[in-house]
Amino acid sequence: MSLEQSSGERATVLIVDDGELNRKLLDRLCLSLGYDTLVAQNGAEAVEQARLRHPDVILMDIMMPEMNGFDATAALKEDPLTRPIPVIMVTGLDSRADMLEGISRGASDFLTKPFDAEELTMRLKNSIEIKKYHDLIRSYSDTLERQVAERTQELRSAFADLEVSHQQIRSGYVETIFRLSLAAEYKDDETGSHIRRVSYYTSTLAEQLGMDEDFMTTVFFASAMHDIGKVGIPDRILLKAGGLSPEEWVVMKTHATIGHKILQGSESLYLIMAEDIALCHHERWDGSGYPRGLKAEEIPPPARIMNIVDQYDALRSERPYKPALDHEVVVDIITKGDGRTMPEHFDPEILEAFKQTAATFREIYEAHGDDRPSALTGSSLWSPGSMAG
Ligand code: C2E
Ligand code: SIN
Ligand code: SIN
Ligand code: SIN
Ligand code: SIN
Ligand code: FE
Ligand code: FE
Repeated sequence: MSLEQSSGERATVLIVDDGELNRKLLDRLCLSLGYDTLVAQNGAEAVEQARLRHPDVILMDIMMPEMNGFDATAALKEDPLTRPIPVIMVTGLDSRADMLEGISRGASDFLTKPFDAEELTMRLKNSIEIKKYHDLIRSYSDTLERQVAERTQELRSAFADLEVSHQQIRSGYVETIFRLSLAAEYKDDETGSHIRRVSYYTSTLAEQLGMDEDFMTTVFFASAMHDIGKVGIPDRILLKAGGLSPEEWVVMKTHATIGHKILQGSESLYLIMAEDIALCHHERWDGSGYPRGLKAEEIPPPARIMNIVDQYDALRSERPYKPALDHEVVVDIITKGDGRTMPEHFDPEILEAFKQTAATFREIYEAHGDDRPSALTGSSLWSPGSMAG
């Protein structure tokens, strides 16, 4: 399923600025980029327009009469109807304080004045893509819930038939999860083998921890979506060859909250766990992680499992910013620490389970090293039953 194919009509940008000149300039730029536009002169008008007209993305100025851009963004994020609409804050060039305030109120990206057509294009494209992911996953998940409910009703007396039907729905569901996760991961992991390995490692750890069959199956699929929020990180940051500047780190870390926003509000058990994992997979046991600095038992167990798994696999893999490392080196980094990664970052019980199953981790990495994406999409090839392949 392609995002391009699923979006027939033109995207609509809501431009919010009290200055007529800026409004006209952005309006002309957006129209020339092929977007439809709506305009508002202050925060209160913006909230009203967003509720009535459902734009795909909002360009939000900060200083405005009536209601400023921070308050308008907070109001939009409180209303479930307008919450999914990404807000791009328009800030001055070096206003780190505005960026931090914007993030805390729910803005998902920033555009700096004076406007640059190329930067505007890139930010609009990224934000609209995230919005489309959100809409797509929601509509897919709504359809799934409906189908499951209909089938359950129809086949209440025929248990065997129900099993078959459920299995079929799930195969389609699994494939969609895999394809969406693959699209998210594609930028920094072209084969997609990382997300498949992640599923095998997480269910291995879940089994070692004595979790039940349902938890193992759910974490198997949910863990594949942990980095889905990376679709919202600009390539110049995600694919940067070296280390990140403090400003770039602020943006990079938003992949956790972006993933959370893409997945939130579903009734699917898979997506509910995936939402926890996306938001909390970089939290650390000692409270030094992000985005919320949660500690110990405050971190959902599937996210604690994901954290150690993510690091094992990221360390084993080549990334634009780092070379691949050997199994023994990686086990040493995780169990003894290297300064950046430290044993106290991990749930001690899960760290112990990792030590017990490290040999299986090596097997999984070796079995799924260099597959091509086309070979990975069938649910028969990617299922909780076939563990290390
Ligand atoms: P990722 O590449 O998937 O890495 C996931 C996690 O694995 C990292 O989370 C970190 O905990 C661990 N990890 C990865 N590489 C190393 C390493 O060389 N040493 C150690 N000790 N741990 C490592 P973290 O730090 O929160 O990073 C999240 C994401 O931010 C990364 O995902 C990557 O996409 C990006 N990132 C992190 N550092 C850099 C960097 O130096 N340059 C660039 N361009 N991106 C980076
Ligand atoms: C979020 O963006 O939902 C994470 C912030 C929080 O829940 O405290
Ligand atoms: C399934 O188990 O087939 C789907 C149920 C869910 O989405 O939670
Ligand atoms: C769990 O048992 O819930 C996960 C493992 C742990 O909490 O340490
Ligand atoms: C941070 O800047 O908080 C992350 C740096 C790291 O732990 O590697
Ligand atoms: Fe991540
Ligand atoms: Fe990852």
